[in-house]
Amino acid sequence: MFWRMTELAQLVLARYVREGDRAVDATCGSGRDTLYLAERVGPTGTVYAFDIQEAALEAAKARLLARGLSNVVWIPASHAEMEAYVPEGVRAVVFNLGFWPEGPREIVTRTDTTRRALKAALRLIAPGGVAVVVAYPGHEEGAKEAAMLEAFARRLPYPAYRAFDVRLTNAPGVAGTIRAAEADPIAREGRSTRVGVGRMSSADDGQGAADRSGPGVSSGVPPVLFVIEKHGEHWR
Ligand SMILES: C[S@@+](CC[C@H](N)C(=O)[O-])C[C@H]1O[C@@H](n2cnc3c(N)ncnc32)[C@H](O)[C@@H]1O
Repeated sequence: MFWRMTELAQLVLARYVREGDRAVDATCGSGRDTLYLAERVGPTGTVYAFDIQEAALEAAKARLLARGLSNVVWIPASHAEMEAYVPEGVRAVVFNLGFWPEGPREIVTRTDTTRRALKAALRLIAPGGVAVVVAYPGHEEGAKEAAMLEAFARRLPYPAYRAFDVRLTNAPGVAGTIRAAEADPIAREGRSTRVGVGRMSSADDGQGAADRSGPGVSSGVPPVLFVIEKHGEHWR
């Protein structure tokens, strides 16, 4: 079976998250990452789960309740406001961008709030922690988010931060989509609506319909995983 990017994201998280840690699921949805984190941090740790859709949080709550997990703080607010809810000293923050597959598809993560949320996450994360983001460049807003993430990650000071991404090397849709968006100076700042992805949408990595979430799935353009490790002082 092919790896899903969301599975790779959890594998990366496993390298960092330990019992007793604080962790954040910035895009809770049905709570798959929340569940994963809650199991890893255990009863002595805490997971902060954000979503702007109450219905998603309710679905996630039910999922965790069924597993007997109560170490989650449920937060019906934008992840851009996470510093108002989460104390410093977080080990990991995970984002799975795009829309909630079980809800209205027009409610998607947005480039500007994603950027604000990621900056907040990097301030909250303790040295030795990580931010993990699965982005879906196969739809217009997702292409802008992916371009923003790449530009953002490139500007982070090294070695205080070490940023890398995982993408399908031989899927022209992914690399091409991000490069196309980057070439657009407005898209680079995440404000453009001019990023064209239609011509890339024939790319197929084989994980398309099997992937569990995100708008990139339906277009056939596979997702990209961004990982940012924090080694040094808080970044602003
Ligand atoms: C791809 S889904 C997440 C899927 C989830 N990881 C799961 O296991 O089901 C993206 C989620 O982000 C949420 N979202 C969109 N904008 C948000 C924001 N500004 N703050 C927090 N959540 C947001 C959506 O409501 C949606 O549930």
